[in-house]
Amino acid sequence: MKAMTQDRYGSADVLTLADVDMPAVGDDDVLIRVRAAGVGPEVWHLMTGRPYFVRLMGFGLRKPKARVVGRDVAGVVEAAGKDVTQFQLGDEVFGSCRGAYAEYASAGAGSEGGVGTSGVVALKPTNITFEQAAAVPTSASTALQGLRDAGGIRAGQSVLIIGASGGVGTFAVQLAKTFGARVTGVCSTSKVDLVRSLGADHVIDYTREDFAARGEHHDLILDTAGRRSLAHLRRALTPRGTLVIVGGEGGGPWTGGFERQLWAPVVSRFVPQQLRPLTAVDRREDLLYLKDLIEGGKLTPVIDRTYRLDEAAKALADADEGHGRGKKVITV
Ligand SMILES: NC(=O)c1ccc[n+]([C@@H]2O[C@H](COP(=O)([O-])OP(=O)(O)OC[C@H]3O[C@@H](n4cnc5c(N)ncnc54)[C@H](OP(=O)(O)O)[C@@H]3O)[C@@H](O)[C@H]2O)c1
Repeated sequence: MKAMTQDRYGSADVLTLADVDMPAVGDDDVLIRVRAAGVGPEVWHLMTGRPYFVRLMGFGLRKPKARVVGRDVAGVVEAAGKDVTQFQLGDEVFGSCRGAYAEYASAGAGSEGGVGTSGVVALKPTNITFEQAAAVPTSASTALQGLRDAGGIRAGQSVLIIGASGGVGTFAVQLAKTFGARVTGVCSTSKVDLVRSLGADHVIDYTREDFAARGEHHDLILDTAGRRSLAHLRRALTPRGTLVIVGGEGGGPWTGGFERQLWAPVVSRFVPQQLRPLTAVDRREDLLYLKDLIEGGKLTPVIDRTYRLDEAAKALADADEGHGRGKKVITV
């Protein structure tokens, strides 16, 4: 089968379209005929091996252990291991897998996992395309876990989403509205209309105005972009508000700016506000929660652009620029 492969860490030009063996399918695995795959920072980190601490997490110190890249997937179950009871051949599924940038990929049929595990899939929402479904798993699960689990979001709260136009942010704005929050999105000028169309009550253009200088205070801040300091972010929080740090572009080669996530729990012990880093996990329960919202018309993936499989390097290079409108997706 055709797959986008890498034999060393580096920028997108390490990727090669190659003929590889079909993936092995264990007793607990499903084999998916891939129809679309998601593009996002999680793929970029494993392609580049940056920040370097990623390599210490079992992905390979000098070169990547997994040859086929990609994680978020949408496709059709083509075969199943003997212990799989949840899926039938022909089921349309979405979720995470091993090596999504390929004609076929295998995924675990378990219900929970994290980065580097065999992945988690669920039945795909029936009312969206495979491309839209492939945009959902990592980004929407991250937004959901950030708002609900780490953020404890409640109806009536004021919620600030920084990076509201991005992969995580476009889901976060819509999800925060489903929880009954008043939502303010932060993005650049050309995306103000997009963020408003997703349901944000207010939109702040960060190229013209600093949200922390407005004198407004939010019960919950979900920070996905800009890598502003903890002190800066705390200025826009209510005295007992919660900051959830999802991520941010840039940072040095070793930690990739992860210092804020390390400092947040330390500072949190000495201030009345809650400052929390987020590490999202793959959960079938969350995929099914998102599926219900999508089928109910309350959540719609925003697709920036689609690419062919042989354009995966361009897709990842474009995504690395960090100024997308929602998600980039690969059609297989
Ligand atoms: N913790 C976890 O488990 C987890 C999971 C998934 C992702 N992440 C991290 O979350 C971050 C966001 O991921 P993503 O997929 O949403 O990225 P993305 O699609 O590239 O989105 C980033 C968005 O932020 C906006 N932006 C850039 N600079 C900004 C600034 N200074 N202030 C406000 N907005 C700004 C960009 O739009 P403009 O053109 O408007 O600037 C873009 O729409 C990444 O660092 C990623 O690694 C973490």
